[in-house]
Amino acid sequence: MAAPNADDCHVDNETNEPGAAPYGNFINYYTFNPPENRLNLIPNTLLQDMGYNTEGSDIILVLDVGCNSGDLSVALYNHLQGQHFSGGTAERELHLLGFDLDEDLILRAEQSNPFPNNINFIPLDITQDVKCRTQLESYLARFGRSRFHLCVCLAVTMWVHLNHGDAALLEVLFRLASICDHLLLEAQPWKCYRSAARRLRKLGRNDFDHFRTLQIRGDMAEHAREHLEKRCGMELVRSFGNTTWDRRLLLFRRREGSQGEL
Ligand SMILES: C[S@@+](CC[C@H](N)C(=O)[O-])C[C@H]1O[C@@H](n2cnc3c(N)ncnc32)[C@H](O)[C@@H]1O
Repeated sequence: MAAPNADDCHVDNETNEPGAAPYGNFINYYTFNPPENRLNLIPNTLLQDMGYNTEGSDIILVLDVGCNSGDLSVALYNHLQGQHFSGGTAERELHLLGFDLDEDLILRAEQSNPFPNNINFIPLDITQDVKCRTQLESYLARFGRSRFHLCVCLAVTMWVHLNHGDAALLEVLFRLASICDHLLLEAQPWKCYRSAARRLRKLGRNDFDHFRTLQIRGDMAEHAREHLEKRCGMELVRSFGNTTWDRRLLLFRRREGSQGEL
């Protein structure tokens, strides 16, 4: 049951306290933020709206960054099948790779994966440049691709930012932009950073390494948009309104001729 005022930086202590989870690696994330909270905002014709159809592209590849225990990945997979990808060939068309730095969460995701032929989960840290390059490129190579059609990065940026700092946040956004044609981003707002830091202190843990020295602060979605548009060859094409936690889902597209590489 969702705690009324909980979000992924300020979890209700009485009902949903999942421990410190300093990377947002909550063990019970989907009990207080079920996949529908976000998926309800995303049309199930998204892939079609993005210009993909079964004739133009045989296989659609989706990357889910920071997939936690995989609940949203699986729900997203089903959601994206939508009307366009429904039918007998659906299982062949869409492939999703979810990754997370928490190996226990990935194990759970693997154990409850209902579509092992089409959905894969691997442990991976998006801040690790070389490992990311190797693992993601080798997955893409299986399909003869150099980029994912869609990369989904929901409620992850704050954890990268708090744990690794400004430069890492910008690098990660660049990395994501360079491995996909479309990027769906949910950046946590600044108020969430403060709650996450407060929560950690309340639990008697050390502060996040970078919280006090971050220069990038304020309107986080706007900072991400600016960086993606000015430095990463992406352009904002749609905003899917606000989630129940008052966050926007922003859809970016690679600009024509943009060349970023992983
Ligand atoms: C708040 S949860 C969001 C889960 C999922 N993206 C969603 O929106 O439903 C954040 C997830 O990001 C993962 N994460 C944080 N930093 C990461 C990193 N550097 N690389 C990969 N995963 C990371 C955490 O382990 C956690 O599972």
